[in-house]
Amino acid sequence: MRKNILITGGAGFIGSHVVRHFVKKYPEYFIINLDKLTYAGNLENLKDIENHENYSFVKGDICDSRLLEEIFTIKKIDGIIHLAAESHVDRSILNPMEFVETNVKGTVTLLNTFKQFCDIKNAIFYHVSTDEVYGELDNFGKFSETTPYSPNSPYSASKAASDHFVRAYHSTYGLNIKISNCSNNYGPFHFPEKLIPLMINNILNKKELPVYGKGENIRDWLFVKDHAVAIDIVFHKGKNGETYNIGGNNEWKNIELVKLLCKLMDEKLGNEPESSLKLIKYVKDRAGHDFRYAIDSSKIMNELGWQPSVTFEQGLAQTIDWYLTNKDWLQHVTSGDYKNYYSRMYEK
Ligand code: NAD
Ligand code: DAU
Repeated sequence: MRKNILITGGAGFIGSHVVRHFVKKYPEYFIINLDKLTYAGNLENLKDIENHENYSFVKGDICDSRLLEEIFTIKKIDGIIHLAAESHVDRSILNPMEFVETNVKGTVTLLNTFKQFCDIKNAIFYHVSTDEVYGELDNFGKFSETTPYSPNSPYSASKAASDHFVRAYHSTYGLNIKISNCSNNYGPFHFPEKLIPLMINNILNKKELPVYGKGENIRDWLFVKDHAVAIDIVFHKGKNGETYNIGGNNEWKNIELVKLLCKLMDEKLGNEPESSLKLIKYVKDRAGHDFRYAIDSSKIMNELGWQPSVTFEQGLAQTIDWYLTNKDWLQHVTSGDYKNYYSRMYEK
């Protein structure tokens, strides 16, 4: 019999890549995508697979226990890949409670429904999480699966809480769970509130490029399609109750990355060399800004055989090309509410 897999948050950035990957690779699965379609969710991200016969979309909130009960009683759910979340650190500083609602309450509501309706020994509850739960690093070392949790932003605190609930439901009720903690993703469909697509969009529109603080903070970047493959591998081969760290082994100082984007975009757009560099503007630092993230991915590499497939050079080139050929998408997602958010964040 065909297995039913529920993916939450499948209309968002990473979720849409995960949905596409599973729908195309596993015709033996029926994929249900449950997404509230917040500002970050967009069905345009799934246009190419929306009519696939092994796919269906449900608009709804993971905090809505009645809706969840309906979904779980209509279909026997064999696995959940849980990505739905409020995901942007700056928004969590503006409004922490939304993050508690979706990331904590929503995850617990999903766990309760899963516990009540699923075959908990066999069905899988997979929580997709972040490396930000570990806090920040100085110039040395990397996060491993045993690094103590030390979240610094309301976003990372809410993701840490949800990780803890998922693990607690494993210990207390015997749920079959998996968790992965990944570094910064980039790629097509990335919402332009995040560093890379925000800079691409601003370079295109010749707008200032706001770099927080001195631009010296460091992030480890992973191409989103490599994350989707890692999620597939953890879902199928990861051990019950275990956590896997996923990273790109690709650390960049923000300012160096922004300069690289200026150079690549100037070349693509036929601009005068170095013209976009003039748009860089150092702005007030993010409150509680974590200095550095770096991931030790040796567990998933050695035990499950995953590794990134594209270099940063290849991934960035694909990403920039995607944004240049999908200007309508950018136009669409930056109209309306985005304008209010942008002026609140950057034009005070
Ligand atoms: P995103 O903000 O692009 O997408 C989130 C999706 O969740 C959207 O489609 C939104 O509509 C949906 N959603 C939000 N609240 C919901 C609710 N209450 N009920 C149902 N759906 C809801 O996020 P993303 O960057 O794709 O991240 C996806 C997941 O991966 C998140 O859990 C995030 O914490 C995690 N993660 C992200 C990164 C990254 O670099 N973006 C890295 C590691 C982990
Ligand atoms: O590490 C994984 C996390 O990566 C995910 O869990 C989050 O969902 C995802 O949003 C991302 O968090 P970051 O805060 O690291 O990503 P962001 O793109 O917001 O910022 C990356 C770096 O760039 C960070 O040091 C802040 C800086 N920055 C960001 C923006 C939006 C700027 O300097 N200027 C900006 O305008």
